Amino acid sequence: MTLGTPLSGNATKALLLGSGELGKELAISLQRYGVEVIAVDRYENAPAHQVAHRSYVIDMTDAEAVKKLIALEQPHFIIPEIEAIATTALAEIEAEGLCTVVPNARAIQLTMNREGIRTLVAQQLKLPTSDYAFAQSFEELQAAVDAGIGYPCFIKPTMSSSGKGQSMVKTAEQLKAAWAYAKSSGRVDTGKVIVEAKIDFDFEITLLTVRALDANQVIQTYFCAPIGHRQENGDYRESWQPQVMSAASLALSQDIAFKVTQEIGGLGLFGVELFIQGDKVWFSEVSPRPHDTGMVTMVTQKQNEFELHARAILGLPVNTDFQQAGASAVILGGVDARGVSYEGLAQALTVPNSEIRLFGKPEAFTHRRMGVALASADSIEEARNNAIEAASYVMVKV
Ligand SMILES: Nc1ncnc2c1ncn2[C@@H]1O[C@H](COP(=O)(O)OP(=O)(O)OP(=O)(O)O)[C@@H](O)[C@H]1O
Ligand SMILES: [Mg+2]
Repeated sequence: MTLGTPLSGNATKALLLGSGELGKELAISLQRYGVEVIAVDRYENAPAHQVAHRSYVIDMTDAEAVKKLIALEQPHFIIPEIEAIATTALAEIEAEGLCTVVPNARAIQLTMNREGIRTLVAQQLKLPTSDYAFAQSFEELQAAVDAGIGYPCFIKPTMSSSGKGQSMVKTAEQLKAAWAYAKSSGRVDTGKVIVEAKIDFDFEITLLTVRALDANQVIQTYFCAPIGHRQENGDYRESWQPQVMSAASLALSQDIAFKVTQEIGGLGLFGVELFIQGDKVWFSEVSPRPHDTGMVTMVTQKQNEFELHARAILGLPVNTDFQQAGASAVILGGVDARGVSYEGLAQALTVPNSEIRLFGKPEAFTHRRMGVALASADSIEEARNNAIEAASYVMVKV
């Protein structure tokens, strides 16, 4: 791979579709290699806009708008950071062969809709997942639950993320409300919901998996140490690395992650979400990009998930070695307001080996992630306690 000089005629250009906190860190990683970064989001002053060479505000679900911008900028790499993108435009652009969609257009199409990836993993690859069904009406949903999925179960829009429109149903009486919620809160109403039997897991992990070229230019699969995390209402609140797990369940997890990412193909980092119970492992979902729970790698690995993604995309070698135990704890808005202020940073940073990232989002919402506290320590328990303590000192003020 030959890299150019940014802002000159031979620049190597990367266009980020989605400019949140993960895109911001990725933009910084890419710029360390002199890549010219163009950040796109649906609103102004998004986190990655603030560190990119150029930024745009467009409706990324509008295929024409996406194609127009790509024609204008002519990037070498298109790097989706979010799921709500006009994927048909990406498929067309990839077919023209002028630039690389990361990791590839099919991966983006498969993972933006739960039906695509679930069907591929469960039916084609025959890997273990929760029992599931898709339903297009309440009657179909009820029938699927009665026919074997049972209670408790999860109802989710087929297109949604961060827990939106998702609920757990414990009894038959709650099913109707869950159906209505999923139908009304999905990102795009595909007319379908997925119902999944609840897996009684001991813990859940994100297995960051990297497909990158080795010294012989051959694609290899590398794994980071497993990341444990705690979710609330379908959104992550804290994560830690490593998650202690049995050798058997780790081997099975890596086998599943290898098969899924190999099927998806391309170069880059993937976040493979898995449920673990004893030595048993179930695939849940996969992000073909850095994962929010993986922000912990900013203090646990020499090459964090953003650096790994950047290197893999650019065809450079990677090193996924784990260095020290660490944890992350999210800082939520707690208020609905624009242009908020942050207090308590000095106190937060008195916590040993802690770091704070503020994303600089122009508008806070009660449950919106505005920052993250990171801490490394000798033990996972200490790291978790310290990350939570550091996060607790940061006050978001109107
Ligand atoms: N079948 C299931 N059994 C047990 N727990 C589940 C199941 N499905 C979802 N969950 C819980 O809900 C969380 C969110 O689910 P999922 O990852 O499918 O949603 P999401 O909206 O894609 O979230 P995100 O975008 O944050 O990853 C999971 O991490 C897990 O804690
Ligand atoms: Mg998830």
